[in-house]
Amino acid sequence: MISEIAPLASLDQWEDDLLLRYPEPEHKAKEEYRNYDSPERDTVREFYRLNHTYQTYDFVREKEREFLAFNKKELPVWGAMEFLNTLVDDSDPDTDLDQLQHLLQTAEAIRADGHPDWFVLTGLLHDMGKVLCLFGEPQWAVVGDTFPVGCQHSDKIVYSEYFVKNPDSYDERYNTKYGVYEPNCGLRNVHMSWGHDEYLYQIMKNYMPEPALYMMRYHSFYSQHREGAYDHLMDEHDHEMFKWVDKFNPYDLYSKSPKPPVVSELKPYYEALIAKYLPATLKL
Ligand SMILES: [Fe+2]
Ligand SMILES: [Fe+2]
Repeated sequence: MISEIAPLASLDQWEDDLLLRYPEPEHKAKEEYRNYDSPERDTVREFYRLNHTYQTYDFVREKEREFLAFNKKELPVWGAMEFLNTLVDDSDPDTDLDQLQHLLQTAEAIRADGHPDWFVLTGLLHDMGKVLCLFGEPQWAVVGDTFPVGCQHSDKIVYSEYFVKNPDSYDERYNTKYGVYEPNCGLRNVHMSWGHDEYLYQIMKNYMPEPALYMMRYHSFYSQHREGAYDHLMDEHDHEMFKWVDKFNPYDLYSKSPKPPVVSELKPYYEALIAKYLPATLKL
């Protein structure tokens, strides 16, 4: 039986699946994403069924209350990265990269392109919010595409048909185009489905430059940054900042390199970068 807590064999299965949906421009998908069939595809579909069923406006508000108290753990930043790396999915026989390696590869690819150091640091930190899994949260409340809650679900969201199971689809406070929001009110006023993006943004919001915060907060918001489905909630400033979200996305998806980074060689550079922007410890 596929578990409701962890339908995916590993958290990375979601990101691997993103590559099928959004292949690198030079590697065009052979088949249409929706026609791609495999056992992995079934678990991804089950994952989205759970995500779209349970991510309601009330669920999100409840998780905000629970996790934005930051009373779970206090760790140095590198310690938080090592804590994240205790997340091993032993149900996945061919786990390719651990969490820290994905983060280092993303950051190193950004660094190699000569971007500002806070952009590099964003690459290193962007998935740190996945520690939510280590606090016992189900996969569907940690990873997966994010989307606004409290208003109509766009049909541009992957597997949007599963929103028929979401109670908000039948609640007239939440099922209109704008729902609880005003036209072009700006994303800062919009609650997103709960997961590692929003959680990390809230941890980092006092320390990083604004473009970095947008990249952290919206990197999984594919229905907007790839599909443009929520322009009606965004303001001018959001559009300006989403240029950075767009810039970040290829590093997240396409930076997997065949030779894994050597952590001990890179650590001094990243420790210095962490010390430049972040406090000695983070409250999770
Ligand atoms: Fe992520
Ligand atoms: Fe990532």
